[in-house]
Amino acid sequence: MHLVTTSSNMPFDSSLANNFAGIRTPFYYYDMALLALTLDAATAASGKHDYHVHYALKANANAPVLAAILRAGLGSDCVSGNEISRALQAGFLADTLTFAGVGKTDDEINLGLKHNIFSFNCESVAELEVINQLAAAAGTTARVALRINPNVHANTHHYITTGLDENKFGINTWELDAVLQQLKHMPHIALNGLHFHIGSQITDMSVFQSLCVRVNELNTWFQDRNIVPSYLNLGGGLGVDYTQPDKHAIPDFENYFGTVQRFLEPLPNQQVHFELGRSLVAQCGSLITRVLFVKKGTNTNFAIVDAGMTELIRPALYQSYHYIQNMTSDASEIESYDVVGPICESSDCFGKAVNLPLTKRHDMMAIRSTGAYGEVMASQYNLRDKVKSIYSDQL
Ligand code: LLP
Repeated sequence: MHLVTTSSNMPFDSSLANNFAGIRTPFYYYDMALLALTLDAATAASGKHDYHVHYALKANANAPVLAAILRAGLGSDCVSGNEISRALQAGFLADTLTFAGVGKTDDEINLGLKHNIFSFNCESVAELEVINQLAAAAGTTARVALRINPNVHANTHHYITTGLDENKFGINTWELDAVLQQLKHMPHIALNGLHFHIGSQITDMSVFQSLCVRVNELNTWFQDRNIVPSYLNLGGGLGVDYTQPDKHAIPDFENYFGTVQRFLEPLPNQQVHFELGRSLVAQCGSLITRVLFVKKGTNTNFAIVDAGMTELIRPALYQSYHYIQNMTSDASEIESYDVVGPICESSDCFGKAVNLPLTKRHDMMAIRSTGAYGEVMASQYNLRDKVKSIYSDQL
């Protein structure tokens, strides 16, 4: 992992809080210099092996974030028609756009066909049939990768594990013989790639090693049947350090791509693609919030803040940990607080028993590592306002 001071070289303290004077909380703050450094590290490491990286828009689809990613030369990975439109609008080329998802609507498929996207990542025989029909009606051929369920355990939270037989994602290996038979009758499908994605927030490289070994077996299986897809797409999943965001601001892309390089055995001329989301954008984002009230509970103190699960649902949904800092308290005394939001749900809690300097009304807090799956998962429950975004280079 690389050691980096937060890019704008601003620790999350009162001087950064001063820069936020006049901005109404809660809001997401994006450190654009850190994003640029992260993208540099990712492209340097992937470039060494001629790997192709698509950015998974589902992690964060804000225009300035997309502009930075486009400048870094990445392709895009979309999971809905609206994401396809957003990616194209941002300037990503259809020729570098992958489209995943177990439940693509006809309109979404037609949008992909209209733009002749790089790849429909197909997740079932039923979907292949529909794409074939719609492509025939449009007088075109769809470029397709089969998303295969490799049955490799990602050792991550069960809600973000996707590559097991029990998951809804992908085509199971026992179906592959039948799929190849059926593809013979689908002239509007061009089978170009094999696609895999086993889960998210994976920090154990041996998981990616196991994936590579499984992909090699499946690639050989296809080769034995005289099919050599032009690319292998290993999906995303590289995790970040939520506990020490400043110490490990940039994920170890060298190790990640290096692991794939060591264990994946692509055939000659077979390209290798990735779809990274979290690892590129998580650390550059923080949710900034203010303390409304401090309340004594029976066993604990509550710091009630003005952000809630409506702005950041990860702790409530996945019991995920986010590092929380009080940016403005200069007290030396440390107290333990449950940091909670204002929403009428007991799960509306950002952290239990968080040690913070003595905290009072109006203190500003940063909930760190929220650039990925933070703002995009926000809701308007309780008729909350849409959360704002502030960018370090626009302050
Ligand atoms: N490709 C596919 C097919 C995916 O389903 C995903 C994420 C990615 C790529 C990007 O994965 P990443 O590099 O970001 O791990 N909301 C959850 C995460 C859901 C991930 C869904 N799929 C969270 O907040 O942890």
